[in-house]
Amino acid sequence: MLIAGNWKMNGDPNTLGEFGKMIARAPEAAHNGVTLIVCPPAILTAKCAERATVSPLEIGGQDCHPEPNGAHTGDIAAEMLAACGATTVIVGHSERRADHGEDDALVAAKATAAQRAGLRAIVCVGETEAERDAGNAETVVNGQLAGSLPETLDPARLVVAYEPVWAIGTGRTPSTDDVAAMHAAIRKTLDARFPGAAVPILYGGSVKPSNAAELLAVPEVGGALIGGASLKADDFLAIALAAVKN
Ligand code: 13P
Repeated sequence: MLIAGNWKMNGDPNTLGEFGKMIARAPEAAHNGVTLIVCPPAILTAKCAERATVSPLEIGGQDCHPEPNGAHTGDIAAEMLAACGATTVIVGHSERRADHGEDDALVAAKATAAQRAGLRAIVCVGETEAERDAGNAETVVNGQLAGSLPETLDPARLVVAYEPVWAIGTGRTPSTDDVAAMHAAIRKTLDARFPGAAVPILYGGSVKPSNAAELLAVPEVGGALIGGASLKADDFLAIALAAVKN
């Protein structure tokens, strides 16, 4: 199981107390076969990676630019994240798709860039509430997968995160039946695209200690991508320990 925390735009060098606790307690989960990743804001990548050298906790980025360097003010290359100690980067998060107008082609280029830099790419997909209500959730997610996952990707360094947009930060989650149906559909698409590969499929959206065990027990759920609950060491580690039991 893979448990990844996405801190989003939270944290600075003066507020790493919770991170210290995560480092100290990460071995509990990691020694039981759980891969634990924290994705802080890019200003903290190097600092967190340095502090995590003593720990199995891995550090990831939240986004990267498709190019390795150049005149792109404010952007960060996958190579920069790798040089700062990251192992992983999230691409195509719905907040980037919505706030920055990122489309599938750009997400595909970012996923390719991540792997070019030697990083694991976590590619996010997920439908809006209107799309689900219209009965189009699987069509939308399949379209995102088709456009965001070039066949040239190395499936060994690829993770897909299913995050229904309406479940992010709302406290609402799909039923376990709906999660199972979507993860089965994603698995079918991944099997066709990368035959024989076991690409993990994470669930994300309002994962908390109280619902983690139930969500992680759903077939084809290979872990979780966690926003709010990844800011608190106790919550993040409780979710990681729920993953150990699955
Ligand atoms: P929440 O766990 O806060 O709902 O966020 C999920 C998410 O967007 C992780 O990438």
